[in-house]
Amino acid sequence: MTTAFDVESVRAHFPSLGRRVGGRPVVYLDGPGGTQVPEACLDGIRGYLTSSNTNTHGAFAISEESDAVLAEAHAAAADFLGGSPDEVAFGANATSLTFALSRAIGRTLGPGDEIVVTRLDHDCNVAPWLALAEDRGLTVRWVDVRLDDCTLDPESLERALGPRTRLVAVGLASNAVGTINPVAQIAAAAHAVGAQVWVDAVHAAPHMPIDVARLGADYLVCSPYKFFGPHMGLFWGRRALLEALPVYRVRPADDTLPSRLETGTQAHEAQAGLLGTFRYLEWLGVSQGGAAGEPGTRDGRRGRLVAAMTAARNYERSLLPPLLEGLGAIPGLRVRGITDVLRIEERCPTVAFTLEGHHPQAVSRALGERGICTWDGDYYAYELIRALGLAESGGMVRVGLAHYNTAGEVDDLVRAVTEIARA
Ligand SMILES: Cc1ncc(COP(=O)(O)O)c(C=O)c1O
Repeated sequence: MTTAFDVESVRAHFPSLGRRVGGRPVVYLDGPGGTQVPEACLDGIRGYLTSSNTNTHGAFAISEESDAVLAEAHAAAADFLGGSPDEVAFGANATSLTFALSRAIGRTLGPGDEIVVTRLDHDCNVAPWLALAEDRGLTVRWVDVRLDDCTLDPESLERALGPRTRLVAVGLASNAVGTINPVAQIAAAAHAVGAQVWVDAVHAAPHMPIDVARLGADYLVCSPYKFFGPHMGLFWGRRALLEALPVYRVRPADDTLPSRLETGTQAHEAQAGLLGTFRYLEWLGVSQGGAAGEPGTRDGRRGRLVAAMTAARNYERSLLPPLLEGLGAIPGLRVRGITDVLRIEERCPTVAFTLEGHHPQAVSRALGERGICTWDGDYYAYELIRALGLAESGGMVRVGLAHYNTAGEVDDLVRAVTEIARA
């Protein structure tokens, strides 16, 4: 049974949503750059630093408590992604994790091997692979984007795959135009030629439940600060691959999973904060009638998290038609990507647009003056913005909805952009 989505009770969990700037309430439409955090996340950080703050594996009670918090953070993150706790590693952010682990994967590759990257991805899932190719003499194959709706070109993918393909790096969703890629299909095609699949789920993670098995991922990376948690990165990989991965590590460090993937000391307080975020999401799942059980306990946690993310996705989808139609009615405004409201299941609620006669940064600044936070530029979707021919003109304005945004905020945005367009 599902219950109506009560956005006001959601918002009550996020203290920062009450902020005002220049006397106006702040409208956070900058989620793709980083989301706001619930009180439970703040409690987790504060609780850790006030009561469990030590290094790991010490022979005293506080260190044992700290170890238990970190183990629980791995277990909860595994439940969030549909994996096992020992397959999960934390790091500074998705980019650092991708650079570090791609180097380890690269130790198994050599000249003649091929890797596939796409022109839709954030550069986090392109540049590390290009650097690796340069260092190891690998060949890079590109998957192109169909510019009319900013979806990956399946024929281009088919051409890119071959008997020498060793790895396909693909995003689950575009952080620029919101396109959700058919990753399960892409993974099946990659596996059919014997390649591994690296999925960048950074943009997707706040908008949908993730199931690494269903996606057919071999490795997946995301960033808790984009899904209501602290600034940190989160990685998952298939156990058999991770056990064999020749990771870069210091000799005295524990060589078992997941420790062998986590170089140096982690941001322990961030992991404690993330546990709080998951507890909030479990509350959301339970409030949506999704799954029984007590938030903060292992039993049924995956079900509560999936229910939360399903509810978030469905609620966000209800805001997309008014956003797309409202923006689409503004003279001179052009949304790139999927605009057909019958196809909203193929996209996240992240909408990028240009406005004729107005530089994207000027639009974003004018919105900022009205208390509305958006982004402008290329947001590191480097190849896409160039393929669209927008690099020289400042890229696009990007609006990103999260499940704490309201229909009223969508109206505010559309009204503000309409005023800016007239000015
Ligand atoms: C799709 C996508 N991938 C990767 C990243 C990089 O994430 P991080 O800042 O955790 O390195 C971002 C950040 O905007 C992103 O949107």
